[in-house]
Amino acid sequence: MRRPLFHKLNLIFGPRPPWNWLLLCFVSVLALTVLLRSSSFTTFESVSFSIKSDIYTNYRRLKEQTTSDYLELTSLSYGDSSQNEVRICGKEREHYVPCYNVSANLLAGFKDGEELDRHCELSKYHEYCLVRPPRDYKTPLSWPVGRDVIWNGNVKISKDQFLSSGSMTKRLMLLEENQISFHSDDELIHDGVKEYSHQVAEMLGLGSDVEFLQAGVRTVLDIGCGFGSFGAHLLSLKVMAVCMAAYELTGSQVQLSLERGLPAIIGNFISRKLPFPSLSYDMVHCAQCGILWDKKDGMFLIEADRILKPGGYFVLHGSSLSTKQGSMAKPIEELTQKICWTFIAQQEETFIWQKTIDPQCYSSGKQGVIAPCREGHDDIQSYYQPLASCIGGTASKRWVPIQNRSSSSQITPAELEIHEVQQDEFYEDFESARIALRNYWSLLTPLIFSDHPKRPGDEDPLPPYNMIRNVMDMNANYGGLNAAFLEAGKSVWVMNVVPLGTRNTLPLILDQGFAGVLHDWCEPFPTYPRTYDLVHANGLLSILISEGCSMKSLLLEIDRILRPEGWVVLSDTLGLIEKSRTIATQIRWEARVVDLENGSDQRLLVCQKPFVRK
Ligand SMILES: *[C@@H]1O[C@H](CO)[C@@H](O)[C@H](O)[C@H]1NC(C)=O
Ligand SMILES: *[C@@H]1O[C@H](CO)[C@@H](O)[C@H](O)[C@H]1NC(C)=O
Ligand SMILES: *[C@@H]1O[C@H](CO)[C@@H](O)[C@H](O)[C@H]1NC(C)=O
Repeated sequence: MRRPLFHKLNLIFGPRPPWNWLLLCFVSVLALTVLLRSSSFTTFESVSFSIKSDIYTNYRRLKEQTTSDYLELTSLSYGDSSQNEVRICGKEREHYVPCYNVSANLLAGFKDGEELDRHCELSKYHEYCLVRPPRDYKTPLSWPVGRDVIWNGNVKISKDQFLSSGSMTKRLMLLEENQISFHSDDELIHDGVKEYSHQVAEMLGLGSDVEFLQAGVRTVLDIGCGFGSFGAHLLSLKVMAVCMAAYELTGSQVQLSLERGLPAIIGNFISRKLPFPSLSYDMVHCAQCGILWDKKDGMFLIEADRILKPGGYFVLHGSSLSTKQGSMAKPIEELTQKICWTFIAQQEETFIWQKTIDPQCYSSGKQGVIAPCREGHDDIQSYYQPLASCIGGTASKRWVPIQNRSSSSQITPAELEIHEVQQDEFYEDFESARIALRNYWSLLTPLIFSDHPKRPGDEDPLPPYNMIRNVMDMNANYGGLNAAFLEAGKSVWVMNVVPLGTRNTLPLILDQGFAGVLHDWCEPFPTYPRTYDLVHANGLLSILISEGCSMKSLLLEIDRILRPEGWVVLSDTLGLIEKSRTIATQIRWEARVVDLENGSDQRLLVCQKPFVRK
């Protein structure tokens, strides 16, 4: 028997929507916003109010501080900064993703799917404007409720896409007029994702899918993830699943996944390599993901092989693979043999292969086996480079079968040695991130939450544990911030970005089971607008300036990525922080400079993006 849906809604939200609470929050944020906005009049004098770390935790003190700052400031200046404000873009850019202008790509002659590729050179756009939210945009529901229910008005999806969302991972439902609901953990409405996950585990010879971790499967690249339900299930098993799909104008799998608080990034490999190092993932998954794996002489399979770890799994689900008799189509069978994959199992429309653990397999002179790439290829050099028809990573020190990895979730000294990273350096990164997190979090807390009373029945932990879900660390180093978040038990995930031009620490980040990607910050990031709640950048401005890129473009890009009322924490040298503060006020962020008072010229810039309604 099915329960009526509105009853289910009640179960999710509790008997009464928390409007009182929201109103209270809103009023206090508004009040603070007014305070902070006034402080943004002084563009050049840095308004550094100093807080020592143990005082951070007391937000009453911070509020008093804010008030007294405000009183000082209002007597200081009455300047008008509005003339410098960056204008708001037109409505047509509400879901704007730079570098993915398909019509411009077609005009430039790209075809056969290459028009869907990333072509930043064609969408150079010099006019500065701020991407506005859609008219009926609403702050996403907090995690974990927001994983299963999102606001219809926040994403771009057509009525047709609701109706055609029949495939297993794409099943979704319009609950009410303005909400979309996904049935990830709902026992009442059978959606098949759990059964499917269980089936895959069984095919790998496991008792159940909770054993994925023990079997060495910690990270999964889910290509064409539907709307992320399989990934959501894997995350609940502590497996890091990253959704990757091509840019889509409407009904984007990446946009919907991120809106649900699930890791996702725009990407395809029609002609160029993915921005991941070789030997990155324990499993590559494709359920009706639309890639014709047997085309282009198997180049797509070779790219999947490149990013798979030795002993890793390739899982394909979809009818296009099997012949009418239900056996595997011949071309796929031949291609997988050429790249030394072992066919493990088939059940109905699901096929699983395993990548070899033996690097000699490729060079054993077997007939038809594809040869290894000539090594000396750093992964950095493969950043968006053309697909190659050779096998990558065979000479790497990181060629370790996933089954051989230590079962500890922490990185071991032996693993650090493989990455040629000093232990003390690694742990220092973690320690400073830990301290920083303590400071950021308590800095943000008083600004998001005023002294509202805890309502009876409210769940611990109190927000902002749940107000921030999607975090981007723009200069992730060894992934220390991600590790610190995990250690502190925050229910967030972090997109760890390793900027081009810095040391390539991405393999180490991925080997910790984190999400990560290489990126050139002189270019826009492959994501939809309003997809991150917190963006953090330590030392990135210095790198960017040394590369000769525009700070204003970078901050505008951060603004595009951030959801309204999202947070930015920049940490850099005094001069750069002051410069970025000037720009921050032009793009209407509420910005504060914080002096860490530890004798260095490092400063923090803590900003909040306003909710602009026009
Ligand atoms: C995409 O490119 C076309 C053709 O060059 C151009 O007219 C259009 O304005 C571009 N769209 C965006 C959103 O930049
Ligand atoms: C993996 O483990 C097996 C069994 O313990 C061992 O024989 C093999 O040498 C290991 N391989 C690597 C590359 O460490
Ligand atoms: C001061 O703090 C910043 C940020 O945590 C850190 O990067 C810097 O090394 C510290 N400086 C000193 C002299 O301790």
